[in-house]
Amino acid sequence: MSNDASTWRELLDETSNVVGDRTEARWLCEEAAGLYGDDFRVALDTAASQRMGLALQAMVGRRLAGEPLQYVLGHWPFRHIDLLVDRRVLIPRPETEVVAETALSFARQFHTMREGGPVRIADLGTGSGAIGLSIASEMPVSGVEVWITDASSDALDVARANIAGIGRNAANVRVALGHWCAALPDELRGDFHVIVANPPYIADDDTEIDDSVLANEPHGALFAKDNGLADIFEIASQAREWLVSNGRVVLEIGHRQGAAVSAELTSLGYRNVEIRTDLAGRDRIATANFR
Ligand SMILES: C[S@@+](CC[C@H](N)C(=O)[O-])C[C@H]1O[C@@H](n2cnc3c(N)ncnc32)[C@H](O)[C@@H]1O
Repeated sequence: MSNDASTWRELLDETSNVVGDRTEARWLCEEAAGLYGDDFRVALDTAASQRMGLALQAMVGRRLAGEPLQYVLGHWPFRHIDLLVDRRVLIPRPETEVVAETALSFARQFHTMREGGPVRIADLGTGSGAIGLSIASEMPVSGVEVWITDASSDALDVARANIAGIGRNAANVRVALGHWCAALPDELRGDFHVIVANPPYIADDDTEIDDSVLANEPHGALFAKDNGLADIFEIASQAREWLVSNGRVVLEIGHRQGAAVSAELTSLGYRNVEIRTDLAGRDRIATANFR
């Protein structure tokens, strides 16, 4: 691609031809220009600086090499927040927005029931912080505490950077490193109203997984033993000790795992076990309460 005093309109056309998608080309150009939406449109007939042209070239090169658009742009929207994302974390998926919505609705119910009294939520395996930070940003500031945890310190560095993006609600967020519930402080055992997680749930030998996911996203965020069920079952088992009476567990699951997860939750003593579907109508969320 040339970058010799080209206008953004010319660069947009050229990028479209190279990446084969006009919307994506526009996102890349907006990122390189540092101008978005109407501001970018207004600048279409102005010349891009050499530095911006080079930044665009570098991003297009990464896309052509197969890197996911989200990592190339370096950020991606999730519900109402814009999350920094890079290779240290899973790219937040649209189906997980429904998981966050489910956890949020239970957290709101507790908040109302307790007349604004303290409600404590944990997002285990937070990655970029997608679920936990959405909950923190969409709940009232008063009377809410959200714990975000991960076993990966690299992931927590990204999540910490994203805390800044939620403004004053960041005051309610606590960060902890460790293996599922063991990351949480011992004195809070039995004090969580909602425990939500989108754990790894892909079987090691899954053949349906996309090549780009396999090549670019952290494997510690993707794969779990026992046909993809090991982490879901472990969280469900541990969470019983960390929930308040009638507290809720909300777990993202694979679309073929509904029956197995439902049976496990029941045998662990959970009540009101429900498997809910995502926007595509596939099993995606397991939820239940304990005691
Ligand atoms: C599927 S990703 C979900 C990331 C984020 N919650 C989301 O929905 O986009 C699973 C996350 O769990 C973390 N993880 C994997 N094993 C873990 C463990 N034993 N304890 C805590 N976190 C773990 C991974 O590092 C990864 O960030």
